[in-house]
Amino acid sequence: MRREVGLFYPAAGKPGGRIIPSGLSKKASPIKRGWDEMSLVAWSEDLTIGVAAVDADHRKLFSLVNYLYDSMIAGKETPVIDEFIDSLIIYTKQHFEREESLFEETSYPDRLAHRQEHDALIAQITEAHKRYKSDASATQLLEMIGFLNKWMIEHIRKSDKKYAPHLKERGIS
Ligand SMILES: [Fe+2]
Ligand SMILES: [Fe+2]
Repeated sequence: MRREVGLFYPAAGKPGGRIIPSGLSKKASPIKRGWDEMSLVAWSEDLTIGVAAVDADHRKLFSLVNYLYDSMIAGKETPVIDEFIDSLIIYTKQHFEREESLFEETSYPDRLAHRQEHDALIAQITEAHKRYKSDASATQLLEMIGFLNKWMIEHIRKSDKKYAPHLKERGIS
């Protein structure tokens, strides 16, 4: 199947598709899960960094973002979505803490810059959540989902992959 970035992803083997937020990776691909239903982005092997606990967290984060998107499409009530965003932020913080404690444990040289990227994400997503609280529109939500997808893919590819050899050399995999 042809994969491309755009606002419109045709479902595999079927005409039509669904509007998705901008900023998705070229590697991101929809998964067909049932009649006229698909996930926003699928995990792809090139996002694996080779540290099991971290890879499991990353997969979970992708599922959570997909679930958020599905909830919006299903027309879930604002308080339900709002609460889910809270959980997503908590899970993201826990994941960052896991990475940061591995950095401390192994004296990863780039730990400060990496931690700053994490802090910036939390600040941006918290801001996006505030905007959603004051304007619970699909536009705000799509903007947040698009931002999360783009950020996760870029951060894993550029920054998380960079620390993997350092951890593996110290027996963490
Ligand atoms: Fe990560
Ligand atoms: Fe990270």
